[in-house]
Amino acid sequence: MVKANENFSKLKESYLFIEISGRINEFIKNNPDKPLIKMGIGDVTLPLAPAVTEAMKKASDEMGKAETFRGYEDSGRGYLFLRESVSGYYADIGVDLDPDEILISDGAKSDCGNLSDIFSSDNTVLVTDPVYPVYYDSNLMGGRNIVLMDSNEQNGFAAMPDYGVKSDIIYLCSPNNPTGSVYTKEQLQAWVDYANKTEAIIIFDAAYEAFIQDPELPRSIYQIEGARSCAIEISSLSKTAGFTGTRCGYTVVPKDIELSLNDGGKTSAYKLWCRRQSTKFNGVSYPVQRAAEAVFTKEGQAQVKKTIGYYQNNAKIITECFDKLRINYTGGKNSPYIWFKCPKNMSSWDFFDYMLKTIQVVGTPGQGFGKNGEGWFRLTSFNTSENTAEAMNRFEKMFYEMFQSS
Ligand code: MLT
Repeated sequence: MVKANENFSKLKESYLFIEISGRINEFIKNNPDKPLIKMGIGDVTLPLAPAVTEAMKKASDEMGKAETFRGYEDSGRGYLFLRESVSGYYADIGVDLDPDEILISDGAKSDCGNLSDIFSSDNTVLVTDPVYPVYYDSNLMGGRNIVLMDSNEQNGFAAMPDYGVKSDIIYLCSPNNPTGSVYTKEQLQAWVDYANKTEAIIIFDAAYEAFIQDPELPRSIYQIEGARSCAIEISSLSKTAGFTGTRCGYTVVPKDIELSLNDGGKTSAYKLWCRRQSTKFNGVSYPVQRAAEAVFTKEGQAQVKKTIGYYQNNAKIITECFDKLRINYTGGKNSPYIWFKCPKNMSSWDFFDYMLKTIQVVGTPGQGFGKNGEGWFRLTSFNTSENTAEAMNRFEKMFYEMFQSS
């Protein structure tokens, strides 16, 4: 009989968001008359921008005509028109990237997991606790040793390097999922210096960069000196431009990053990633790449910024409610996520069930992101403004009632 990958037995029984949908479906089955407000999974609610759908339609028409039909995109890296647009987007924040170093994919989640193919399984991986489960689970599946670094209230949910801890691959996410905290330039510089000194590689997840409002905060790790030799950056249009159901992202692998070989030689991470992608991936569809290109046009940028502003306003509705109730939280200012302490020291899953039962609002229990998430909870600002305002009205009432009853 074929042997299973035993590493799967180290994973939790189900992926966090699958566990949440299971509980939601059970609730709906038993309470069909109680509509839910979902602020759990970071899925967007506003439609794609008009510039994006126009470009997608035009590209679909091209696919229906012999003269403009396209089959495989042969570089396996994504069309040059899109890689150039992404490079232009980076240029606007002062980062100079060769479009060759940008590879288009179907989103950050796939790349976060797939990148592990280019690293030996003997590498030690460093992730924060709490963490976006994909970094942890995909390395567990690959049989790598994983070291957790505490990200907690004491360090403002911004874990910093510890030279006493040996690691090879470091996953950082800023603005952070789930805590909404954002690394400053100085903090990221400390990580880049650590990686360069210890010959480690940082995988920097910038999927939420578009939510940064403070111009002093870095939106890309390449705004930090020395990052080109040690950092791979992953980003996505899911949250930036509503592509959760459309699927398009990009990963930047600078040609300067080297990996060691058993014979003492070196190879290039870029070369391996291109090889991996051309072997296991046939690219994102042409209409979707044209749609993604439209995001980076002047018109597209104006439209997606409006959408982001709408979600930022939702985040404000949530944080204003928490300020009023004096709830301890992070995020919401430069991030679509708001991470807060559960009232009355409730465990995060108990609070999840309590909110579901009492006010029919769904969030994400912090414990699902790691042990340091226990007692914490995450809400997203991706619902509609009406639902967000309604959810916070219900939350406020629930909160007062919780304290009155004690
Ligand atoms: C989340 O809710 O953490 C994200 O939506 C997950 C994802 O984008 O994969």
